[in-house]
Amino acid sequence: MLRKPVALITGASGEIGHGLITRLAEEGNRPVITLDLKPLEPGLARLVQQQFAGSILDANLLERILSEYEVDLVFHLAALLSTRSEFTPVAAHQVNVEGTMNLLEFAQKQGESHGRPVVFLYPSSIAAYGLPDLGTKARAGRVKEDDFNAPTTMYGCNKLYCEQLGRYYARHYKQLSAEPLAGRVDFRCIRFPGLISAVTVPSGGTSDFAPEMIHAAAQGHEYACFVRPDTRIPFMAMPDGVAALLRLASASRERLTRTSYNIGAFNPSAEEIQEIVVRAFPAARITTKVDVKRQGIVDSWPADVDDSAARRDWGFAPQFGLEPAFQDYLIPGIRERYRA
Ligand code: SER
Repeated sequence: MLRKPVALITGASGEIGHGLITRLAEEGNRPVITLDLKPLEPGLARLVQQQFAGSILDANLLERILSEYEVDLVFHLAALLSTRSEFTPVAAHQVNVEGTMNLLEFAQKQGESHGRPVVFLYPSSIAAYGLPDLGTKARAGRVKEDDFNAPTTMYGCNKLYCEQLGRYYARHYKQLSAEPLAGRVDFRCIRFPGLISAVTVPSGGTSDFAPEMIHAAAQGHEYACFVRPDTRIPFMAMPDGVAALLRLASASRERLTRTSYNIGAFNPSAEEIQEIVVRAFPAARITTKVDVKRQGIVDSWPADVDDSAARRDWGFAPQFGLEPAFQDYLIPGIRERYRA
């Protein structure tokens, strides 16, 4: 029996997976299979061909998928986020690094079995950066991909290393063997800013103060923001993040000059986010209660990123700037969500 070409999404029931499954189903080009510890919500489950319940660390499960499906596109989203990873660094390394290694090997074998490189989309993060102090952060402004690559968190180290692993698989895999370059994994990575979704709330991240503040205000809950009001990092509305993954996935290989790309859309301070939220939800009760450790993490992340390579190589162009993200996407979407 012929195996059918499918896209595989790991960590599919997380925040990015939610939007990605919907968009892939709308496009209808390719059936989707998913792998996650958690089952998909019923509304999403209907949109996929098959859900595999399990771990990316389960080699037998990956073998089973390999034997049943011809995967030619992988979105490897499964990860433990930055705050969570600081509490369980060994587990974070296992999931974030060994899990990614398993998926890269899986993609390599898939490519060898169907004779074409598997396109492998990998979400990295601004956590891959580590700026040494606030003065340097202020002076650095929009950082380029190869600057300040000295992350302070386990998650950041994991992401930066996996970017390098992916580049190795794409460009140098088994250099000493006679295998042709064409058989290699076509690894493509986006370094995401903080992502804000109207339909889901993140868990375990350190950029979570922004989405948490908005979702709390919409529900009439009090919120104590865990970073100082002047804290500034880049953010993006989830639909732009998902669109970027799809756009990079379909970009022509020849145009890609890098394997990892920064992208960004807007970079308000925590105080500016609070002002917009209070304008939209005047009853919002937002205070500040700094968590020193989490503050230290976001202070080490850049205030903004230089995404000119993504714009030039594959036409990255976010739809939502700061005001439109709130007025046209987040506020109406979040109102709708809690009304429902
Ligand atoms: N937004 C994620 C986090 O805060 C980083 O990618 O962990």
